[in-house]
Amino acid sequence: MYPVRIEGERIVLREFEERDLDASMAVVGDPDVTVSLSFDTRAREEQAERLAADLRRALVEPRPDYYLAIADRRTDELIGFIRVGLGGHRSGELGYALRKDRWRQGLTYEAAQLMLTFGFEALALHRIQAACGPDNFASQAMLQRLGFEYEGRMRHHVFTNSAWRDSLLYAKIINN
Ligand SMILES: CC(C)(COP(=O)(O)OP(=O)(O)OC[C@H]1O[C@@H](n2cnc3c(N)ncnc32)[C@H](O)[C@@H]1OP(=O)(O)O)[C@@H](O)C(=O)NCCC(=O)NCCS
Repeated sequence: MYPVRIEGERIVLREFEERDLDASMAVVGDPDVTVSLSFDTRAREEQAERLAADLRRALVEPRPDYYLAIADRRTDELIGFIRVGLGGHRSGELGYALRKDRWRQGLTYEAAQLMLTFGFEALALHRIQAACGPDNFASQAMLQRLGFEYEGRMRHHVFTNSAWRDSLLYAKIINN
């Protein structure tokens, strides 16, 4: 399915565009954001390559993931990312990040709700999981508010910021 555009009240989930490079640096170039992610803070050059790869990957059929920009609905400017990676057996893995100056406005929650509806309805997924760092209380609280249940701790799940990090696994299942 391409291109995807999902309209919310205050945000839009849309495909990445080349012009998103500068705006995306406010997310992937900010150590306060990437400290909670599974990759290190990126320099602009590296992000330019990543963005180009993301643009190409969106055209692969079948899509391995739906990695979308969270854009401000008024300006269409990228303020974050949200992704569902597709696994076997109608499963998906959710990930997200928002630029720091837009935190605590309910915007990622809105984006996640839109993505969950897309995943469970349009993609007919049965299970969507998410893994977050044990210290990432913001993400854990959000997943619980979204109806995810805690399933356990994955030890040394990711190598990030020069160290192994455990992850807490959450999942939501819909009997569709
Ligand atoms: C986690 C993150 C995406 C939350 O985004 P956000 O837009 O600020 O979250 P929202 O405003 O939509 O909040 C939704 C819910 O999440 C929880 N939450 C969000 N931030 C929180 C915080 N700092 N402390 C506690 N709970 C928090 C709350 O339950 C909140 O609902 P409430 O406002 O009604 O209490 C954002 O902090 C971020 O980008 N962090 C860095 C990247 C990251 O951690 N990604 C997830 C990796 S698993």
